[in-house]
Amino acid sequence: MPTLTPLSPAFAARIEGIDAARASEADVAFIREAMKTHCVVVLPGQAIDGDEQADFAARFGELDSYEKMSGDYARGMRKDLLNVSNLGEDGKPVGSEDRRRLLDMGNRFWHTDASFKHVPAHLSMLYGITVTRDGGETQFADMRVAWDSLDDDRKELVEGLAAEHSSTTARRFLGFNDFREDNPAVTNRVTHDLVRVLPETGRKTLYLSSHADHIVGMPVPNGRLLLSELTEHATRPENVFTHVWSAGDLVIWDNRCTMHRSCRYRADRETRQLRRTSTVAPEFAARDPAGIEVPAWKIEAAA
Ligand code: OGA
Ligand code: MN
Repeated sequence: MPTLTPLSPAFAARIEGIDAARASEADVAFIREAMKTHCVVVLPGQAIDGDEQADFAARFGELDSYEKMSGDYARGMRKDLLNVSNLGEDGKPVGSEDRRRLLDMGNRFWHTDASFKHVPAHLSMLYGITVTRDGGETQFADMRVAWDSLDDDRKELVEGLAAEHSSTTARRFLGFNDFREDNPAVTNRVTHDLVRVLPETGRKTLYLSSHADHIVGMPVPNGRLLLSELTEHATRPENVFTHVWSAGDLVIWDNRCTMHRSCRYRADRETRQLRRTSTVAPEFAARDPAGIEVPAWKIEAAA
């Protein structure tokens, strides 16, 4: 029987006694149950190749696919795996000016995976192949608590609002502007509600992401200020769990009720090689922005 140890008071837990490559139905059910409460679980001591990781993830839902992303992202892996790594083709860390490294810098902003897609990510599973000695942690924020801890007047303001997300928002902020406008995966903009209800528990969550560009129906500055203020609120230290990597960790998080980001490390000196796979959340597909009307008082209150 697997054992579960909470890693912080509100969320995140470690599960021991499960081998992801040979997990039983009962093991999968145990993890599913734990995700409902903890939203982030760490399975230490795994030894899985890419196929085993994808097979394991597929037991939790349909896998997200990265085939339409730019070649910079695919990096020679199967279309349902992402190589989160600072190594170049030659197996050495790439320089700070390398486009691959710059793309990974986008992960340093608080985000939820694939919020720029019509069907965003549900579970992400990140496996530690080679990990850093210093820095390079992954941090998580509990977006259920982020909602619960808002003042009543903020709740009233935010409820019913929706944000437009794009895969270029965070990267534009980093200074990229040479996007391929003929690639719909790059130019697509989707609208997601800011407040959502988790079907399993009925709990509300705040759905924010560095991919969120502005609030639909609100002047851009007002919406951006609101998004920035909410992100600050959601990621206060008491609401954050920091995962320090060991090789062989498989970290699973629910993108519907957490945000995450990676922490700085010396990418010129250290090797950091992780592999990600995600399942999709069709129950939270993007909504049609036509017809969203924001009352004047909300526009004033956000500014
Ligand atoms: C990701 C991600 C964070 C990290 O792979 O989706 O955000 O610490 N990674 O590498
Ligand atoms: Mn991510």
